[in-house]
Amino acid sequence: MALVFAANLSELVEDEPLPVKLGEEHIALYLLDGEVRATHNVCTHQFALLSDGYTEDGCIECPLHQGKFDIRTGAAVCAPVTQPIRVYPVHVEGDAIMVDL
Ligand code: FES
Repeated sequence: MALVFAANLSELVEDEPLPVKLGEEHIALYLLDGEVRATHNVCTHQFALLSDGYTEDGCIECPLHQGKFDIRTGAAVCAPVTQPIRVYPVHVEGDAIMVDL
């Protein structure tokens, strides 16, 4: 387990993904129904940052070709994406969001 500080909880807004770079990893943080979630931030189709896209119904829509991923599971749910994105366990300690890389 490698818990890494990612952001402060107060920086997160519901339905507005927050991009963070943890070492070499592009991560997107989300506040989804009051719970903090973390996914890899790069689409598995081509290079696009998912945090530039939109959230809807628990999914993040890629800004480039509108593929969708389930934020909770990382599953690819809408063409043209077929490969899932990685999701990361999150621990909230006070105002600190810690991501388990
Ligand atoms: Fe994300 Fe094409 S780059 S759907």
